[in-house]
Amino acid sequence: MNTLNHASIVKRIAWPDEIATQAFAQALAGRPAAAEALIELQGDLGAGKTTFARHLLATLGVHGRIKSPTYAVVEPYTLENGLNIWHFDFYRFNNPREWEEAGFRDIFASAGLKLVEWPGKAGEYLPQADLVLAIEVLADETRQVTLTAQTAIGKALLP
Ligand SMILES: Nc1ncnc2c1ncn2[C@@H]1O[C@H](COP(=O)(O)OP(=O)(O)O)[C@@H](O)[C@H]1O
Ligand SMILES: [Mg+2]
Repeated sequence: MNTLNHASIVKRIAWPDEIATQAFAQALAGRPAAAEALIELQGDLGAGKTTFARHLLATLGVHGRIKSPTYAVVEPYTLENGLNIWHFDFYRFNNPREWEEAGFRDIFASAGLKLVEWPGKAGEYLPQADLVLAIEVLADETRQVTLTAQTAIGKALLP
């Protein structure tokens, strides 16, 4: 159920190159609301979902190589300031029972930042996102990004 849909705010921006992706991630990381947000990253393979997540996590203080969660489904992080972050990729998710067995219900009920690639693969299980980033690759490799803020937290994250 999407009871807040009527109040969604939609914004379109462009990331002409990865530097622009990084700049957007850095600005978002500076918002206090990021610490409690559920952010969906939509887009085809190679759109730039993981690239964005890496810049966001690095800015927030994750050190070292940031793995794509494609194989593990989730990569968890705890920052030095205590912030919990979960980076999900549901691309390989095909049995909804896995959701229950893996304890994802508890994670999504916990405080912290959740980033979700391939949210559609989690179907009904995924709670409503605060912010949706839908990334589209244009002919010149520019990323066109549609931002949909669905909650007050999401609106606090808009540029
Ligand atoms: N804004 C951008 N402009 C141009 N190339 C980008 C941009 N963002 C990411 N890329 C490139 O596109 C590819 C995206 O890969 P990745 O982030 O793994 O995609 P996804 O997680 O959506 O499958 C990477 O090679 C990255 O360097
Ligand atoms: Mg990815």
